Amino acid sequence: MLANVKEMLEKAKAGGYAVGAFNTVNLETTKAIIETAQELSSPVILQMTEKTFDYAGGRAIFHLIKNISEFYANDIPIGIHLDHGKNFEVVMRAMDIGFTSVMYDGSRKEYVDNLMMTKKIVDIAHAQGVVVQAELGNVPYLGEIQTEGIDWERYMTDPDQAAQFSSETGIDTLAVAIGNAHGFFREREQPDYDRLSAVASRVDLPLVLHGSSDWHEDRISEVIKRGISCFNVDTAVRVAFVSGLREVLRDGDETDLRKIMGSAKDSAKKAVKEKILAFGSSGKA
Ligand code: G3H
Ligand code: 13P
Ligand code: ZN
Repeated sequence: MLANVKEMLEKAKAGGYAVGAFNTVNLETTKAIIETAQELSSPVILQMTEKTFDYAGGRAIFHLIKNISEFYANDIPIGIHLDHGKNFEVVMRAMDIGFTSVMYDGSRKEYVDNLMMTKKIVDIAHAQGVVVQAELGNVPYLGEIQTEGIDWERYMTDPDQAAQFSSETGIDTLAVAIGNAHGFFREREQPDYDRLSAVASRVDLPLVLHGSSDWHEDRISEVIKRGISCFNVDTAVRVAFVSGLREVLRDGDETDLRKIMGSAKDSAKKAVKEKILAFGSSGKA
């Protein structure tokens, strides 16, 4: 069933576990995520970016997820979320389609510009019952910065700024930068756990960790204890899907697309399962 993302994450925060927000691009990745969450009786968030809107059609992918949720997965709470909305127009487009949870990502902008645009979007979104995630600090992408000798301090969320930003904008959830990065990437040797605790003590909202694909269980449980209620996962599932695809194509002359895509989906399901078990949301549907 479709669920309110803010309520899902507040419940997770109170329950000491986190919900996975998995990027999807098509029918197969959508089914891999939803079927696995069902098998584990877990709440789950499916999210997509503007690039996926361009690939699949925003309305098409939104209604695909909505229909699967309502007609095949009424037994678990499912959130649908716009990930990394980089400008006002794409966030408005998502809300027009029917998204009830959006991220406005102004993290690459100057602080004041990020704050002003986030506030403008929150005011419009809240008037329509839509919840908003923002990012403060900067979670870098593979290829965006050099991989050696990174000055992580430049990218980190400042706890005082986070407190001011969340109270002035009225956001519902906050994505934090504590040494995490997108993609299979050389992240900071240790996440800045104390910084996360400092943010959590000043910002009483569910906190979101982007770039969770290469985070292992010990780190995951440590940051849940310190305030993370949602982990964004893209690369791990994507890589598992493509590995499954390569395997089935290499091993024979199968041409039935349902079998080929089905194998890739099964491979993606294993990656989703591993993450949901680590997040502790299994059995929390
Ligand atoms: O953080 C975003 C995800 O990794 C997906 O990125 O859909 O823009 O390629 P993309
Ligand atoms: P990864 O690709 O590193 O899992 O990051 C996903 C993400 O943060 C999507 O917003
Ligand atoms: Zn992200």
